[in-house]
Amino acid sequence: MTSTDGAQGAQSAQKAPAKDPWDLPDVSGLVVGVLGGTGPQGKGLAYRLARSGQKVIIGSRAAERAQAAAEEIGHGVEGAENAEAARRSDLVIVAVPWEGHGKTLEALREELAGKLVVDCVNPLGFDKKGAYALRPEEGSAAEQAAALLPDSRVTAAFHHLSAVLLLDPEIEQIDTDVMVLGEERADVETVQALAGRIPGMRGIFAGRLRNAHQVESLVANLISVNRRYKAHAGLRVTDV
Ligand SMILES: NC(=O)c1ccc[n+]([C@@H]2O[C@H](COP(=O)([O-])OP(=O)(O)OC[C@H]3O[C@@H](n4cnc5c(N)ncnc54)[C@H](OP(=O)(O)O)[C@@H]3O)[C@@H](O)[C@H]2O)c1
Repeated sequence: MTSTDGAQGAQSAQKAPAKDPWDLPDVSGLVVGVLGGTGPQGKGLAYRLARSGQKVIIGSRAAERAQAAAEEIGHGVEGAENAEAARRSDLVIVAVPWEGHGKTLEALREELAGKLVVDCVNPLGFDKKGAYALRPEEGSAAEQAAALLPDSRVTAAFHHLSAVLLLDPEIEQIDTDVMVLGEERADVETVQALAGRIPGMRGIFAGRLRNAHQVESLVANLISVNRRYKAHAGLRVTDV
């Protein structure tokens, strides 16, 4: 052993062993709220999570619409106005269209205080050439959420899922990875674990919120893939 090896050995003897990145928390007891849970993405996520045993409350601008969607989903899902869904949940997924994103979150600042917020909003435009990424002033939808919700812990995830696959009851397993972004490791790991509750899915740490724009924008590419190949494309991150 060279003296350099020895120095490294002594150093690593003092250091705590690196944490296993797949050692994720048990999130089965968390109540999950879904803002805009009456749309295909929110409803699909609510269905998949509830089917895996998670308690889910879907939110809407109108309580009746949320209740009707919750009944349709079954699996113990409840429906409420967005504000009540936020208040009653530990973790809140934001699944409203980009056009309503800022206004919705601004109005729920109090209800979302202290909560873990998971933004899955993709700011996209569409023209005759197809889908393209918009450039939010704050950098991304997730960064807009973080700016509007200073008392919440904001993460971003679930951008690349196909609502069609999520909602199809014949499909048992959804083979895809979910990129999870956030500032705090514990929060990111909670969201990774939540993604992992859905059979076939893995939640993978993909950086801080300042890199959310690329992840949100990539959906424009996936839409192009889907159109050309008549597919419901997802993503797999290799070698992890
Ligand atoms: N669809 C997908 O495959 C998919 C995949 C990944 C991510 N996403 C993202 O998930 C979000 C939801 O997608 P979606 O296709 O489910 O959207 P959507 O159907 O257009 O909207 C979802 C729900 O949001 C509510 N809503 C509509 N306009 C609103 C506004 N101006 N302000 C507040 N709430 C409003 C509506 O519920 P109420 O009328 O009941 O309030 C609607 O049912 C989008 O931001 C999208 O980028 C979608």
